[in-house]
Amino acid sequence: MPTTLLFELSDGIARITINRPDKLNALNATVISELSDAVTRIETDAAVRGVILTGAGSKAFVAGADITELAKQTPIEGKTRSLLGQQVFRRLERCGKPVVAAVNGFALGGGCELAMACHIRIAAEHARFGQPEVKLGIGPGYGGTARLPRLVGRGRALELLLTGAMIDAAEAYRIGLVNRVVPADQLLNETETLLRTILENGPLAIQACLEAVDAGMQTSLDQALLLEANHFGLLSATGDMQEGTQAFVEKRKAAFKGV
Ligand code: COA
Repeated sequence: MPTTLLFELSDGIARITINRPDKLNALNATVISELSDAVTRIETDAAVRGVILTGAGSKAFVAGADITELAKQTPIEGKTRSLLGQQVFRRLERCGKPVVAAVNGFALGGGCELAMACHIRIAAEHARFGQPEVKLGIGPGYGGTARLPRLVGRGRALELLLTGAMIDAAEAYRIGLVNRVVPADQLLNETETLLRTILENGPLAIQACLEAVDAGMQTSLDQALLLEANHFGLLSATGDMQEGTQAFVEKRKAAFKGV
């Protein structure tokens, strides 16, 4: 049984809650290991169709990597820690199922990086974002320098990375770091509603969109377009495509089976 996170599966949605509220859900080695196990379950359990990721308590999503562990690391341990966290976050990002971060407070350092590895971010009004690593004399280790410029552009990313400044949810929304901002008491409901809207659609089509955007953003426009065309053709072989188009013609709701 995990000790630093909760994994609750209900009606197709896995809710993962990083659960170290007394340490503002900081990511220590145990959290990363248990998150890795949770990602394995997401990847392999067909009952999981979508994921909500959040933090325990009302103060923090995740306030970063656990600084008490960083303080003791050797260079080799630092590199290993970075690669391991990057790998877990990358697997989450590529799990083929929609992952939505419900950012319920501080999302700093590794917390901001974890939120960015999710496909969509919904923030509570009191959420705060930042990459304060430089204030500790270290740099981001879980993808901040790679994902932040891809999300908000190079100039805005560098301002956040180089100043280590914290921004509020409204500013995070303004620069495109989060998809929307909602009152704290509506955060989980709004997140689940959005995820359920996504899950009404064909799961194979959702998976193809996730894969095409992920791969397409790392390649040329021509290769991205070719991948899209290949998916478009491949999805035409699915029962879901038959069902979806037939349901439209018959003016009924589609019942997708993911085949
Ligand atoms: N690693 C380890 N412990 C952390 C932590 C982190 N990243 N962030 C918070 N904590 C711990 C604090 O040490 C404190 O523990 P204690 O009660 O045993 O002393 C507890 O969580 C509560 O945090 P505290 O600092 O007292 O809360 P605050 O409201 O005064 O400040 C923050 C909140 C987020 C501004 C502050 O905790 C902070 O700056 N955290 C570090 C953020 C950071 O640099 N992250 C990047 C790491 S690479």
